Amino acid sequence: MNALFHTHPEILGLGFIIIFFSLVILSYLFKREHKALLVTQNHLEDLVQERTAKLEQEIIDRKKLEEILGNERKQLRDLIDSIPDYIYFKDINSKFIMANLATIRIMRCKSQEDILGKTDFDFYAKELAEKFFKDEQEILRLGKSKIDMEESVIDEYNRMRILSTSKVVLMNQDGKPVGLVGVGRDITDRKLAEEVLKRDNETLEKIIKVRSQELLDIHVELEQSKRLSDIGTLAATIAHELRNPLAAISIAAGNIKRKVVDAPIERHLQTIEKKIIESDQIINNLLFYSRLRPPQHENLYIYNVLNECVDTAREMSPKTLWVEKKIEDVKNVSIDGDPLQMKEMFMNIMNNACDAVPDARGSVEILATHDKNFINVYIKDNGVGIAKANLEKIYDPFFTTKVKGTGLGLTVCHQIIKMHGGSIRFQSEPGAGTTVIVNLPKKKK
Ligand SMILES: Nc1ncnc2c1ncn2[C@@H]1O[C@H](COP(=O)(O)OP(=O)(O)OP(=O)(O)O)[C@@H](O)[C@H]1O
Ligand SMILES: [Mg+2]
Repeated sequence: MNALFHTHPEILGLGFIIIFFSLVILSYLFKREHKALLVTQNHLEDLVQERTAKLEQEIIDRKKLEEILGNERKQLRDLIDSIPDYIYFKDINSKFIMANLATIRIMRCKSQEDILGKTDFDFYAKELAEKFFKDEQEILRLGKSKIDMEESVIDEYNRMRILSTSKVVLMNQDGKPVGLVGVGRDITDRKLAEEVLKRDNETLEKIIKVRSQELLDIHVELEQSKRLSDIGTLAATIAHELRNPLAAISIAAGNIKRKVVDAPIERHLQTIEKKIIESDQIINNLLFYSRLRPPQHENLYIYNVLNECVDTAREMSPKTLWVEKKIEDVKNVSIDGDPLQMKEMFMNIMNNACDAVPDARGSVEILATHDKNFINVYIKDNGVGIAKANLEKIYDPFFTTKVKGTGLGLTVCHQIIKMHGGSIRFQSEPGAGTTVIVNLPKKKK
């Protein structure tokens, strides 16, 4: 090589020139690359800066969002906690995954953490928890919410509370049940109020019923009084219209009796006289019934009244009667009563008994007892008895099943007993005889 340069120095020069230019070109290229690199670096730096700024913004935005979300979650929680109803979420296995403050309290827990992951078995008696669990599993299995069920639970103060609970099934995107939300409202006070209202209503209904019955009784009484006053007018008219002709017939019969001595005619005259007496008695009865006056109370011994009535009834009845008296218990017991009205009343009842019994083997039993305030008289016969339909009518004026009855006997008895503050009851069955029970207060009211 050296030899070549020595022999050809122009080659050496050319070599230098080439190297020189090469270096120049290289330097130029280097500079250009360097410049391009610088541009790229700047661009990259810009990009990094831009990205960093973006990221920083994103972080700020995210923080803001988290703050907003946090606030909203807190607001939501505060809202749910402020609701007095019991609100909770449960998973598919009936385990609590969220509970509001009311639920936390009723479960006697301090915070939600004490409840999460637990079931009703951790808080309620086994039977109750089993019932809730079964209900919920059924709801979840069917995917069907249940609204307004009534549930009873014991609250944190050991009081029984009635809840109206709705359990709504929560579904995932595929429509499969994943849990439930329960909302329970305490309706104990409402229930109690309803019960009070119901009781009030029942009391009111009872009062209305009693009042209506009282009004009905008053109406019946008024009707009876009206009828009795009609009877009064009628009786007065009959008495006036019949007594004179009856008196004339009686006088005429007496005259004939004095003038004619003939056995058959005398028998007829006796019949006429008997019928005149009977007719007069009917008129008397009608007048007595229609002119019922308030009782004139006396110190009266019912024992004597009963004895007198039994004797009279026996005498008057054409039947052979077996009468038994068990009245010694009231021998020395007196009541405040009107003697005439008492006699009339017991006479009527005994006459009815005598009318009802059979001709032979007729029996009437009179029993009298007394307690602190009342005298109780039982008049029992073995007569025909009274049909159920007739029992309702026996106190009606003019109700009679007898050919010769006026149907006023018991109407008057009823009135007399009522005026004395007592009561009268019938126990009777057709064919099984009748027992009349009269209760009279010892002291007038
Ligand atoms: N002890 C009795 N046994 C069977 N029926 C009776 C008895 N007492 C009352 N009755 C029934 O009650 C009806 C009404 O009795 P109530 O005394 O008012 O009238 P009455 O006896 O028919 O007529 P009177 O006005 O003459 O008494 C009777 O007709 C009779 O059907
Ligand atoms: Mg009678």
